[in-house]
Amino acid sequence: AHWVAGIKVSNKTATVALMDFEGHTFAEFETPLPKSQLSGEDMVDFILHSLETATSEAGISISDLSGLGVGVAGIIDALRGFVYWSPSMTERNVDLRDMLENVIPLPVFIDNDANLVAKAEQLFGMGKSHRDFIVVTIEHGVGMGIVIDGQIYRGTRGCGAEFGHTKVHLNGALCRCGQRGCLEAYVADYAVLREASIVASSMGDETSEKKLEELFNAAKAGDPLAKSIFQRAGTMFAMGLANIVNIFDPELIILSGERMQFDYLYADEVLEVMKKSVVQIDAPLPQVKIHKWGDLMWAKGAAAYAMEGVTEHAIRKI
Ligand code: BGC
Ligand code: NA
Ligand code: ZN
Repeated sequence: AHWVAGIKVSNKTATVALMDFEGHTFAEFETPLPKSQLSGEDMVDFILHSLETATSEAGISISDLSGLGVGVAGIIDALRGFVYWSPSMTERNVDLRDMLENVIPLPVFIDNDANLVAKAEQLFGMGKSHRDFIVVTIEHGVGMGIVIDGQIYRGTRGCGAEFGHTKVHLNGALCRCGQRGCLEAYVADYAVLREASIVASSMGDETSEKKLEELFNAAKAGDPLAKSIFQRAGTMFAMGLANIVNIFDPELIILSGERMQFDYLYADEVLEVMKKSVVQIDAPLPQVKIHKWGDLMWAKGAAAYAMEGVTEHAIRKI
């Protein structure tokens, strides 16, 4: 087995990357998700189906692989491959790794999706020459990956780095985690659309993407409501970034993920708010870099995670 597979489950699609042990991605596939939220069992079926499609299209079989990495949004204990809660799933407390290993004859490694973006940035992207950096992802949600001394930091219970659910408002807007006042509930695409009172039921499909683009164009053309919505999202986000600096003082913050195509989150005015909100000292600010990566990079991070996991397994057996 000379390859590993990585899969990233988004709210609309799953992306599979097939990678060799040098870190070269030789194939990638996208499969549409049947529904935006799946039960544990349906998630297992879906991942298996995506993997089967990807491998057969690449002319190999699952048994040619040495491991599978999976990135899932939500609170994941990576050590156990256990999903406490995921916005992509209808159930809580799913033993996803065991369930997958029961049907897929491979070692499976599961982590939070944004942690795997950090892994991808570390190995293939802007984090390459940094021991310490932080990745913030804006997509359907707001995610985070913390790299300290070259390692992903996950917290005591394995589920830290949930920047999207840091509280920015008392009794504020409803978040998809069920709580109120989370940063994500002001910044993520669904939050922005909801503010514009565009039906929340169309969240996540293509039309909502189109609507977001329309709203963004309206803001650019000077529409006051659209402008104020994006300004608020940008300001909230900037304050969140300032909090990251005030807590971690990282060398570098990488803003990654699909939504970075909309510059309201990193416009000059936004970064100005961030600069003003950090503790003022006579030293240069951490760098903020924008990386407009799509789902493939998340999947690459998942594949790289599997590669590491497989290698560690092999070493432990010696
Ligand atoms: C989830 C995170 C995830 C992020 C990006 C948030 O809503 O809580 O765990 O990393 O979305 O998918
Ligand atoms: Na994370
Ligand atoms: Zn939340």
